[in-house]
Amino acid sequence: EKIALIMAGGSGTRFWPLSTEDKPKQFLNLVSEKSMIRETIERTVKIIPFEKIFIATNIKYLENIKKEIPEIPDENIILEPIARDTAACIAYAGLIIRKKYPDSIMAVLPSDHLIKKEEEFLHSLENAFKKAEEDHIITLGIKPTYPETGYGYIEYRKNDTDMEICSVKSFREKPNFETAEKYIEKGNFLWNSGMFIWKTDLIINEIKKYMPSHKAVLEEIEEALTGKDLFGISLSDYVKDIFCKFEKISIDFGVMEKSKLVKVIPIDIGWNDVGSFRSLEEVFPQDKDGNIIREETEGTYYELDSEDNIIINKENKIIATIGLEHFVVVNTGDALLICHKDKTQEIKKMMDKINK
Ligand code: GDD
Ligand code: MG
Repeated sequence: EKIALIMAGGSGTRFWPLSTEDKPKQFLNLVSEKSMIRETIERTVKIIPFEKIFIATNIKYLENIKKEIPEIPDENIILEPIARDTAACIAYAGLIIRKKYPDSIMAVLPSDHLIKKEEEFLHSLENAFKKAEEDHIITLGIKPTYPETGYGYIEYRKNDTDMEICSVKSFREKPNFETAEKYIEKGNFLWNSGMFIWKTDLIINEIKKYMPSHKAVLEEIEEALTGKDLFGISLSDYVKDIFCKFEKISIDFGVMEKSKLVKVIPIDIGWNDVGSFRSLEEVFPQDKDGNIIREETEGTYYELDSEDNIIINKENKIIATIGLEHFVVVNTGDALLICHKDKTQEIKKMMDKINK
């Protein structure tokens, strides 16, 4: 059967002060009235019922998850005691899901992306479920538009007759800028969307094959769970000490770069991973001065000679700018950020400074 595993344990920091430690990006309503994770689930449930949607997250986000998605049964919330990145997340959730659904095919989906063309996405996902029956590790690939260094790159064979699914020559996670530029020039590369479809049993085996230290931890967990019927919080508590032994590494570095079973389905779904404030430029219309204005209370922003800014006001308090150009201004009530548009990648650095 078809299962969805939504990964919602990331701790994104690039949207501070909108995002905080308690409320990372997936819980923000960045692109619509609803939170990113709510949007993800509402999309997914159109083809997979709630009882077959699992959410893997850090234990500290449990309350956020329950509040955002009350429809999800408690036993489908898989809690990680500590953040160990996506390989551990997928391996651990995989074990739990396989116990209940031994022959399942699972779609692993991030919880914090924007997908504008929902029908195209659901169609591609259905197609991927079908193709995954043939024991492929399937990734959904996006046509790249610039040398982004924060993505994975999939080198695929163009001469394939079946453009619905292409064989993969290589997978390279987060290359440096020069390499990314070269890939874009060559043309036969796609961005990894971070959405994967595979048999639950197959991905567990691939993880064990290419990640020996994960294999050891997994076997310890399997042993600890034998004969036990634990779910949710009690389960997470029970395996806590073992889970901590997982190395912190993503599935992309751990399996995707190495597996020989990888295939890619090229997709055109209006995808945006909403990675920084500037990605909002592709989401929201700019006014005649090139400003993007997001106000909680309408009519709280005033400007004179201000162009090309992103203004986000969460408070019922006036923001006024005069002659401001090319800036991000975010007011949450707890904090006020004023950041040059070309420096938004430094926000993380600033958070470290504030938290010291
Ligand atoms: N449960 C759980 N536990 N979820 C996690 C964890 C974890 O330890 N770490 C990250 N996640 C979730 C995030 O919340 C997000 O939804 C998803 O897993 C992907 O993690 P990111 O940390 O956002 O990955 P990335 O953006 O650096 O890179 C991935 O996505 C790119 C596309 O956006 C890679 O797959 C790249 O290859 C890809 O191009
Ligand atoms: Mg991401």
